[in-house]
Amino acid sequence: MHLYGTASRNAQGRLTIGGVDVADLAREFGTPLYIMDEELIRRNCRAYMESFRQHYPDFDVAYASKAFLCTAMAGLVAQEGLSLDVVSGGEIATALQAGFPMERVYFHGNNKTADEIRLALEAGVGRFVVDSTQELQLLNRLAGERGEAARALLRVTPGVEAHTHEYISTGQLDSKFGIPITGGLALAAAQAALGMPNVELTGFHCHIGSQIFDLTGYRLAAERMLAFAAEVREETGFTASELSLGGGLGVRYVEGDAPARPAELIACLADAVRSGAAAHGLPLPRLIVEPGRSIVAEAGTTLYTVGTIKEIPGVRTYLSVDGGMGDNIRPALYQARYECAVANKLDSERGRIVTVVGRYCESGDVLLTDVAVASDVAPGDLLAVFATGAYNYSMASRYNRFPTPPVVFVRDGRADLVVRRETFADMAGCDVLPPRLQPRRAE
Ligand code: LLP
Repeated sequence: MHLYGTASRNAQGRLTIGGVDVADLAREFGTPLYIMDEELIRRNCRAYMESFRQHYPDFDVAYASKAFLCTAMAGLVAQEGLSLDVVSGGEIATALQAGFPMERVYFHGNNKTADEIRLALEAGVGRFVVDSTQELQLLNRLAGERGEAARALLRVTPGVEAHTHEYISTGQLDSKFGIPITGGLALAAAQAALGMPNVELTGFHCHIGSQIFDLTGYRLAAERMLAFAAEVREETGFTASELSLGGGLGVRYVEGDAPARPAELIACLADAVRSGAAAHGLPLPRLIVEPGRSIVAEAGTTLYTVGTIKEIPGVRTYLSVDGGMGDNIRPALYQARYECAVANKLDSERGRIVTVVGRYCESGDVLLTDVAVASDVAPGDLLAVFATGAYNYSMASRYNRFPTPPVVFVRDGRADLVVRRETFADMAGCDVLPPRLQPRRAE
């Protein structure tokens, strides 16, 4: 069994994370429960920061908050000296609530609303990552109303397709994100931006995909982005001072996954940008990356209680847990795979093959298919699913009105609740019952 970060097994054969026995966490916070290994998140942040310090003079690491965000996470990110990538008014509001330094925020999104742009300007967000000419015009107008110039990076598509799941590739030409370099569209957008009094163009951005193992795509993207920056300089005289190459580094979900690590990515990017800049006679831009998954995925564990175990002779055994697709949509949406263990029986022989399903009213609510678990697994046991820290809590849904589980950060033997469990009252809290729709007593 692969244990991530500070996870370990104690003398009782139980899983501990951050020095805390998960059985104690289940007792205190209930299940399902998202457990985050704070030490591992911090280590991952530092891996990016330290490799940059070794390899490149001027850099910024913006944590992609879509992977996992709550106010405590925003606080941790600020403490570690990273910036923050946000994509919505909601993520901006969370950063504000946490007291995150807003000048270190990058605001992304392919269809930002005027209200969100106003909120971002009001909040003092550091950079807008602009996705279209239309957005440039809107930003120019709204910043103008405030008598300001908004700093902006232009998101372009370098036409590099990362080798990953089709649904999560965004760098290719046919994409809802970004402006294609091909055909002169991105150049035209840069020219437009440079002519706007209330937009201050600082450079360019691209993002080539997600859960990427192979660094070749990054190198290629860096080369194309520098060639593009050179073209813009030639045509307009503008020299980009910032270059963001997005996020996307992969993580280990299951046996056989062998992603490159942050230090390797940074070394590769630093090298590619240096040689690209030298080849085109450009000054070294500030180099920005936006890792999400590689900061938090491996630090997350979802803890469930085992319920019904249904054996269909000659077919398969269904082991039900008290969560499912509402707290982890990734298996259903991307055929994502995970590993799991019976957290209170780590010393048992893993001799039983089961398919782990949730409690949602949908046959596709399957978390893991045909995996080996402790032979003596029984109702009431705890099942831990590993590497669920990215895009699980953040993509949680309220299907069937099961409350969203709480999140705890564990570290050095202590556990802090950072998101409390949703209550039934929370869920119905936005409902409005007009008098004409109130149930009537039978007449
Ligand atoms: N920057 C931009 C512009 C992005 O679009 C993304 C992710 C990131 C950074 C962070 O990428 P990461 O380092 O986390 O791979 N829900 C999918 C992943 C969608 C990723 C969308 N963009 C999943 O669960 O696999």
